[in-house]
Amino acid sequence: MNDYQKMADLLLQSRYAVALTGAGISVESGIPDFRSEKGLWSKYDPMEYGHIDSFRSNPAKVWKMLLEMDSVLMKAVPNSAHYALADLERRGILKAIVTQNVDSLHQKAGSLNVIEFHGNNRSLRCGRCSRKYARESVSFEKIPPLCACGYPLRPEFVFFGEEIPPDAYQKAMTSVQRCDLMLVVGTSATVAPASYLPRTAKSRGAILLEVNPAATELSHRMSDLHIAESAGKALPAIVAALDASSPKQRKNV
Ligand code: APR
Repeated sequence: MNDYQKMADLLLQSRYAVALTGAGISVESGIPDFRSEKGLWSKYDPMEYGHIDSFRSNPAKVWKMLLEMDSVLMKAVPNSAHYALADLERRGILKAIVTQNVDSLHQKAGSLNVIEFHGNNRSLRCGRCSRKYARESVSFEKIPPLCACGYPLRPEFVFFGEEIPPDAYQKAMTSVQRCDLMLVVGTSATVAPASYLPRTAKSRGAILLEVNPAATELSHRMSDLHIAESAGKALPAIVAALDASSPKQRKNV
């Protein structure tokens, strides 16, 4: 039996499967990840551009990088990996996706229960009065964009040095505590606290399945099965293998 079929069978046997996704799942949608050779952090120093203190001290500088990212995000459309996860949810197998991505591509592919651990790209917020603005309503003619109160607007992303939004954190923890299988896709699993989620799931007895063309800390130490392939190839192949599973496996859903 090949690894796709094995993953499909394990998913069918699971009671509460949850996915954890990272930047890698959106690479085939044209969005570079952070830590690969051509990733965003090879071009920009994460502490200089990704830390909340940098944003506070020089919002215009950080906004230049954010706008470069924004132009890529605005063009991107879901790829076959996002659609495969939405399909798994529709089949009743996948109960939630915890994503570190801010690109909204899971929702665009039709996934419903998406927990955005690091925020989203749909709105901006005033760093002083907290007023929210839809992304489309903001003009970027002047950088940084300003709130009606005159203070710089910030993206609704989580910067380094900031807390995870409490609601997302709570929902993610609940999913991790309930899950008996976690499908980890396209993340280096190096950034805490997201990186604790698969470790917590595993320590509570969940099966860890990983899809990532590269080996990670997880694949070395704790993944039960690692498919070293791109998400856009592997996830549709896993979904296709579900239909080839024996009736006995399917009955366990
Ligand atoms: N399919 C699946 N995985 C891929 C693909 C692909 N086509 N291409 C690359 N990857 C893998 C890489 O091998 C890498 O392990 O995706 C992973 C991306 O890792 P990172 O760049 O570290 O991204 P991520 O894990 O999402 O980063 C976490 O760090 O900078 C912060 O807030 C940012 O949410 C981000 C967090």
